[in-house]
Amino acid sequence: MVASAKRKALITGASGQDGSYLAEKLLSVGYEVHCVLRNHWFETEGLVPPNLSISYDHLHLHAGSLENVLGLSRIVREVMPDECYHLAGYSFVEVPFEEEPTVLASLVSGTHALLAAIREFVPECRFFLAGSSEMIGAAPESPQSETTACRPRSIYGLSKLSGFHIARFYREKYGIYAVTGILYNHESVRRGTQFVTRKITQGAAAIKLGRQKSLSLGNIDAVRDWGYAPDYIDAIYRMVQGDEPKDFVIATGVGRTVRDLLEVAFGTVGINWQDHVVIEPKFYREIEAVPLIGDARAIELELGWNATKPFSEIIEEMVVSDLQLLQKA
Ligand code: GDD
Repeated sequence: MVASAKRKALITGASGQDGSYLAEKLLSVGYEVHCVLRNHWFETEGLVPPNLSISYDHLHLHAGSLENVLGLSRIVREVMPDECYHLAGYSFVEVPFEEEPTVLASLVSGTHALLAAIREFVPECRFFLAGSSEMIGAAPESPQSETTACRPRSIYGLSKLSGFHIARFYREKYGIYAVTGILYNHESVRRGTQFVTRKITQGAAAIKLGRQKSLSLGNIDAVRDWGYAPDYIDAIYRMVQGDEPKDFVIATGVGRTVRDLLEVAFGTVGINWQDHVVIEPKFYREIEAVPLIGDARAIELELGWNATKPFSEIIEEMVVSDLQLLQKA
């Protein structure tokens, strides 16, 4: 009897929050999982990206980067994946002026290189691009859906919107199953500490343990639609398994302020945030005239997806994890 071949998935950006959860999910449902990691992860023997510590031994690893388009093409040709999840790229919305060319070029050329290689070597491969609410940017309405006009307000958002159009073009012109998830903010214990949720949960934990006295923040009236990263991985997976290639908004539909976040995080450790938060202009960003809140009814209706974890539970889980991490350190 011939054993049935495993489905093969290729993930870019696998060492990040989303990539690492996705790798675990795909392994758990029987995939052969291939990950593209930057060269520096291969330079020191035994160095394991922290987010991949659970799945690392089960993964097939490839050194590559968005800038090395020939390398990406070679990886696609070697792996011949059934599904390709393109999550790599700059993820902080504020891009320093000097880095604008790299951020823009790497996302555009990396997305194009993957799709061109899929078209040439493995046209049946399904392709997912991690898009962002920042593609929509200055929204004419709230909440935003798949039909909301896009007017990015950042080079980051512009680069994601360009990637979105490359994927759409490959779908329409070459019949590739290529989709973009318009992802709103999604958080977890694996979130990077430069993002406001983790900055606050880590800060609350450090203040509780007496390791830090104050926490400097920017605009605490800013509104975001914060969901749970593993839920968003479920949405991404469903999009790739769909009957037809379609782009979807992935969001909770509920907007909260950074103040709400502070209430929950500091409430978890029984501390009054007003006694510790310092507002610093260097962290300030302009507030959107119309808040970025997503309308995910299309994916709920068509793919049966739902956000499962309430905001307060996400933040509490992150604070508890940060307390444990700091106590171990
Ligand atoms: N990072 C940060 N640091 N943000 C702060 C701070 C601070 O000290 N103070 C206030 N904020 C506000 C920001 O102005 C923003 O309105 C909000 O907190 C969230 O900021 P981030 O956590 O940095 O996330 P983001 O919304 O800019 O971007 C994230 O979500 C996008 C999808 O909606 C990232 O994950 C992007 O990669 C993603 O595309």
